Amino acid sequence: MTLPPKPPSRPDRVSLWRYLKLFRADILSAQPAKLYRAWMAEFKTPFFQSYLINDHTLIKRVLHERPDDFPKSDRIGAGLRPLLGNSVFLTNGDVWKRQRRIIDPAFEGGRLRDTFPAIWASGEAAVARLAPHADGQPFEIESETSHAAADVIFRTLFSIPIENETATKVFHEFKAYQRTQPILNLAAFVRGPSWMPRFFRKDTKQAAKSIRALITTLTQDRLNQIKNGPVPDDLATKIMTTADPETGEKFDVPEMVDQVAIFFLAGHETSASALAWTLYLLAMYPEWQNKIAAEAAEITQDFSKLSTLKQTRDVFREGLRLYPPVPMMVRESTKPEEFRGRNIKVGAQVVVSPWHLHRQSRLWDNPDGFDPTRWATENGKKCQREAYLPFSSGPRVCTGAGFAMIEGVVLLAQLVRAYRFEIVEERVPVPVAHLTVRSKDGIWLRITPRSEEL
Ligand code: HEM
Repeated sequence: MTLPPKPPSRPDRVSLWRYLKLFRADILSAQPAKLYRAWMAEFKTPFFQSYLINDHTLIKRVLHERPDDFPKSDRIGAGLRPLLGNSVFLTNGDVWKRQRRIIDPAFEGGRLRDTFPAIWASGEAAVARLAPHADGQPFEIESETSHAAADVIFRTLFSIPIENETATKVFHEFKAYQRTQPILNLAAFVRGPSWMPRFFRKDTKQAAKSIRALITTLTQDRLNQIKNGPVPDDLATKIMTTADPETGEKFDVPEMVDQVAIFFLAGHETSASALAWTLYLLAMYPEWQNKIAAEAAEITQDFSKLSTLKQTRDVFREGLRLYPPVPMMVRESTKPEEFRGRNIKVGAQVVVSPWHLHRQSRLWDNPDGFDPTRWATENGKKCQREAYLPFSSGPRVCTGAGFAMIEGVVLLAQLVRAYRFEIVEERVPVPVAHLTVRSKDGIWLRITPRSEEL
């Protein structure tokens, strides 16, 4: 059986110069195949020392046991700072802890139920938008999943659909921001030598400024509504009315703008990537697509029925395993450490790679295969606990993990019960690491309505 697309690996030995060039183009194909079975790999360059850890006890130490000793580096995300400011994604220490105390309650299980109608409405809108493209001709699906995921964020945060004038502008400006930043790929997360200047093109700064101005309007308007009531009970209201239990302080407008910028970025790029790859997998394995369509047939806008979408959840989980939207996470050591008998200096980069961990050939059965039944097996359960990190883990786990699992499952169910997705033989997607794992030339599918087949 054909395996899902996997990027080519580089030869084991290449010069540093060649490695840096490959790395800058795409981090995934810049790595040698042996990383899929290594417990740890060391990269020493004249500029930095970097360790990719692929062993769950080490990962546990970094993400769970001593996260404060392995913060995000200040230089990480430098390419994103003009847009994200002091957002929870980039901060460390006490500032980060305070931000999480205010944000986390809005994403707790019980309150997620409140976001469900908005997610459902976004799914219906996505089904409607696809109708003109359900003609069996090749269609690039990432653009649609991106549109749908942006719609979800605006509806759940600010109770406005993506057609809202400000929301549309943010969405388009954001695309412009990415175009001005062609190297805004994972390399932006990696520390360069300290003398290396970080350039921001004038238009990058300008795009960031105009996105932030738009978000500021939304946030200021909401603050006024909160003062004068009535106000929608959405994520923005929840976050803006929550006081830090330790200090009693709430976010002011500039702080909230930073957080909205990251919710938009982290929340829509990732979900868009996960949905597009999972749809591609379903197109590759039509028997699974039919199972999902059957499972989804009875579903209505009833939150309590979501638990019946078991196979859809297993498929989405498998999509997140094979194509984790955040392929690597970078931290910095702040104390001398010993990793697998090696001395790690202060300031070394520590890389946790869901991409490699999810395909670790010494841990997973059939690591490169698509098998949604694995989650019910002993191996699948063990690996889910120890070698599965699509949302990271520990205190710095993705704030939106529960939210994203609902969104992914609901949108998949709605799309697959409405349409049949088929691969386009001559367009096999090649995974590359941009900000998230995307396909080099988009993900192309043929779409036809399911209803016509009944
Ligand atoms: C399939 C969808 C998603 C995936 C795979 C994903 C994955 C991740 C991962 C791996 C991280 C940790 C990054 C790191 O430590 O370097 C993260 C952080 C974060 N995510 Fe998500 N995410 C998803 C959706 C969302 C959504 C929908 C939201 C919000 C609405 C969100 C908000 C955040 C925030 C705020 C952080 C920063 C947390 C912190 O550093 O304390 N994510 N996400």
